[in-house]
Amino acid sequence: MSSDCNGPVAQAAQVAAPQLATATAGDHNKAGSGLFSQLTDNPFFTAGFGLAGLAAALRAGQQGLRRSTDLLRRRLLVDVEITRNDESYQWLLHWITAYQRAQAMGQHAIPGMPRQPAPSGTLSSLINKITPRMHHLQIQTARAKRPDGADETRLSLVPGQGRHILRYGNAFIALNRQRDKAFDMSTGTPFETITMTTLYAHRNVFEELFSDAHRLAQEMHEGKTIIYNSWGPDWKPFGQPKRKRPIDSVILERGVKERILEDIRAFLEARAWYLDRGIPYRRGYLLYGSPGTGKSSFILALAGELDFNIAILNLSEPGLTDDRLNVLLTKVPPRTIVLLEDADAAFNNRTQADEHGYRGATVTFSGLLNALDGVASVDERIIFLTTNHVQSLDPALVRPGRVDMTVHLGEATEWQIEQMWDRFYVDVDTDGLGKQRFMTRIKELGLANSISTASLQGLFLYNKDDMDGAVGMLGDLAKSHGQVDIR
Ligand SMILES: Nc1ncnc2c1ncn2[C@@H]1O[C@H](COP(=O)(O)OP(=O)(O)OP(=O)(O)O)[C@@H](O)[C@H]1O
Ligand SMILES: [Mg+2]
Repeated sequence: MSSDCNGPVAQAAQVAAPQLATATAGDHNKAGSGLFSQLTDNPFFTAGFGLAGLAAALRAGQQGLRRSTDLLRRRLLVDVEITRNDESYQWLLHWITAYQRAQAMGQHAIPGMPRQPAPSGTLSSLINKITPRMHHLQIQTARAKRPDGADETRLSLVPGQGRHILRYGNAFIALNRQRDKAFDMSTGTPFETITMTTLYAHRNVFEELFSDAHRLAQEMHEGKTIIYNSWGPDWKPFGQPKRKRPIDSVILERGVKERILEDIRAFLEARAWYLDRGIPYRRGYLLYGSPGTGKSSFILALAGELDFNIAILNLSEPGLTDDRLNVLLTKVPPRTIVLLEDADAAFNNRTQADEHGYRGATVTFSGLLNALDGVASVDERIIFLTTNHVQSLDPALVRPGRVDMTVHLGEATEWQIEQMWDRFYVDVDTDGLGKQRFMTRIKELGLANSISTASLQGLFLYNKDDMDGAVGMLGDLAKSHGQVDIR
């Protein structure tokens, strides 16, 4: 048995045993390094590990690069972001177009940009050569009703969506006009932003640029009245501001204009009085009368006279609901008179809701009353209502606080006719004889208090500088008004 144990197999086992014992009892480090060396000796593993390591190193490198580019960017560049809802958005767009157009035409002092240095020397001519032009423009079309009822369309060009480069003085500015995917649900228009980027060293140009753009906007508005139309639940300026209509150009019966102006001026001076007593600081006026008696024209001229803008809303406009009217009246731009035309549309639509609870897409009488009562604002609120049909005027509407003053603008009186004659023929009727003949004919035909100032204006415009023509045409005017020519 023992000789068996000392056999070659047992010897081999004895030789192997200490080795095994060494391996199991040996230190773990060695085992670890063994494992490591086994792993590193494995070509498949080393290839994977190497790749992963390389990827991690690359990623770290990329992140580092991005971080340092960001840092560099933050150090070297400066951004300004303007959103569409900001007041400056539109005037900035218009300024950029005007500025680039002036640059392209080689002008160096255009309105609103007094600081633009006149270029001289080779450097400036080089800069001028590389000054980028705007190649992607967008057309902005505005369509609306003028206060005199006529339709008007206005077109303007502004920088389109995308990237543009602008040179302002010696600074180059990257401009990115971006449209968001999200929509402003109230107006149905997408959100938009303009981002302007320039070198940090040129950061001061933004202040100058914005004040130039603001100055240009102000210059465009100087002596002008901004007309706002409703756009969904918001007010939007309709095209470019209009030249103020002189108040003298609207001829109302003697003393009427003065009475309204006096009332409104007293109201504007009494702000503290209203606020101290907790009375809503608002004043309402109702002008009624036949078509063409100067209601809208007078309110527009009045806005110009008081240096106010005007927000026009037609109450008979389809789709104008009580809610929309209410919202619109809560966000009237500052220093703006609200003109609610066709107030009778609401008189006719007295019901609040039909049997199905549907209010309809027009303003109801109670909706108008609620909107007039509206939330009190610290800013003055001046509202003018106009109507041709005042028969159904409800006492609830003319309650003080809603409508404080009701004025009738009637057909042209003799006094108004004379005034209008003077405005049109003052240069040609030097001895006043033309006016005498005209007034005699007016009396013969019984036209005083029966023709509108608008038709009188039409007659004078047709016979510009031709007094006899105007006198001669009175017969036709009388016939068209059902008056009998007794001559
Ligand atoms: N009293 C007036 N003085 C000067 N111009 C007038 C006068 N009335 C009307 N006009 C002229 O007639 C045109 C129409 O006037 P306007 O639109 O102001 O009338 P309206 O009373 O508002 O009419 P509607 O009731 O149809 O809205 C305008 O071009 C305006 O210049
Ligand atoms: Mg009108």
